Amino acid sequence: MSNSLGKVFTVTSFGESHGEMVGIIVDGCPAGLPLCEADLQPDLERRRPGKSSISSPRKELDRGIILSGVFNGKTTGAPLCMIVRNEDAHPEAYEKTSSVPRPGHADYTAYVKYGGYADYRGGGRFSGRVTAGLVMAGAVAKKLLALLNVEILGHTSEIGGIKAIARDYDEVRKNAPANPVHCCNPQTAEIMIRAIETALKEGDSLGGIVEIIALGVPAGLGEPVFDTLEGEMSKAFFSIPGVKGVEFGAGFSVAHLKGSENNDPFILKDGGIATTSNQSGGILGGISTGMPVIARVAVKPTPSIGQAQRSIDLQKMEPAELEIKGRHDPCIVPRAVVVAEAAAAVVLCDLALRAGILKEVIK
Ligand SMILES: Cc1cc2nc3c(=O)[nH]c(=O)nc-3n(C[C@H](O)[C@H](O)[C@H](O)COP(=O)(O)O)c2cc1C
Repeated sequence: MSNSLGKVFTVTSFGESHGEMVGIIVDGCPAGLPLCEADLQPDLERRRPGKSSISSPRKELDRGIILSGVFNGKTTGAPLCMIVRNEDAHPEAYEKTSSVPRPGHADYTAYVKYGGYADYRGGGRFSGRVTAGLVMAGAVAKKLLALLNVEILGHTSEIGGIKAIARDYDEVRKNAPANPVHCCNPQTAEIMIRAIETALKEGDSLGGIVEIIALGVPAGLGEPVFDTLEGEMSKAFFSIPGVKGVEFGAGFSVAHLKGSENNDPFILKDGGIATTSNQSGGILGGISTGMPVIARVAVKPTPSIGQAQRSIDLQKMEPAELEIKGRHDPCIVPRAVVVAEAAAAVVLCDLALRAGILKEVIK
C-alpha cells in the first residue's frame, strides 16, 4: 500500500480507524504560511461523523493537532505532522470481520495482501476515518492556494439517483454548507435526506456523486505525459475509500458528442484568453486552461449495511452469514465532499509548486 502522494508538496497518511490516532505528514509546504490548529477545524468539522441522523453515530471530536512544522504561528518549511486522536473506537464490534469479510469492504483484500496481519478493526487503514488526515492536508493546501486566488468548491450533485445541477457558483458557495447532505439546492437536499433515511430504515445504503469546482486555477498547471492534472487528481480522488469513478468536464458523455459540440471555442476576455463553454473541465493536454477545473467523483453505497449478507469464514473456509452491527454511514457522499475538495487542493498545490507558481518561501 502506498501511503504517499505528490512530488513536491508530499502527503503521507498514517493511522488506523481503531488505533491511537489518524494523521498526515505534509512535506514540502512553503515556509512563512500563517497556520494554527483552528485553520484545520472547519474542514474537519465538515467531515466529522455523528452530527446528524444520516451520518454514522460514532462520536468523535476530531480535533486537529499540529505536532511539528509550525513556529511562531508560521510554517517553517519542515514537515508538518498533523493528527486527530480516535476517541470513540469500539474495536469489539468488528471481531467477526477478522475472519468473515464484509462484502463490498476491503476486509478480504487486506487479509489476502497482508497475510492476516492487517488491523481489521473498523476497516483499519481502509476506513473512511483515515481521510481525516487528507482533510487536514487539504486545509493547509487551500490556504496556500488562496494566495493564488484559487478557491475550491465541493457539493453533492447526486444521491441515490436524485440529482441537483449547480446553476451558479454563488449558489454552491452559499447552499452546500448549509444542509447535512451538502447539496447546492435546498429543496433537492430535503429529498436526498428522506431517501437516505428510507435506505437506513431498510438496513441499506446509497451512493452518489460529488462535484468539485476549482476556481481561479491559472493556466499551465499539469505535467505531461504521465503527471497530467487529470491523472494526478484522479489518483488523489481514488485514494478516498468508496470512490469508484472520476470524470472531468463533459466526462463520459464525450463519447456521444460531436467535435463541434465538444470543442470549447476560445475568446478574448478581460485582457486574457477564455473559452465560451467548458466541456474540457478546464483541462487540455493534461494542463489547466485557466477555466474552472470541474471534476465529478462517483461514490458507491456504503458497504456496511444492516441486512444479512453472504460471506465466507476465512478460518474455516466455509460459507458464513454476516449481519453488521457496527456504526456506519448510510451514505458516505456528504462526508466525502470535503475529502474530495482536499484531494483536489493537495494536487493543485503540488502542481503549482512544481510549476514555480508557488514559491518555497511565502513573502
Ligand atoms: C468519510 C467516509 C466514511 C466511510 N464510512 C464507512 C462506513 O461507515 N462503513 C463502511 O462500510 N464503509 C465506509 N466507507 C467506505 C469504505 O471505507 C470503503 O468502501 C472500503 O474501504 C472499500 O474501498 P473501496 O470502496 O474504495 O473499494 C467510508 C468512506 C469514507 C470516505
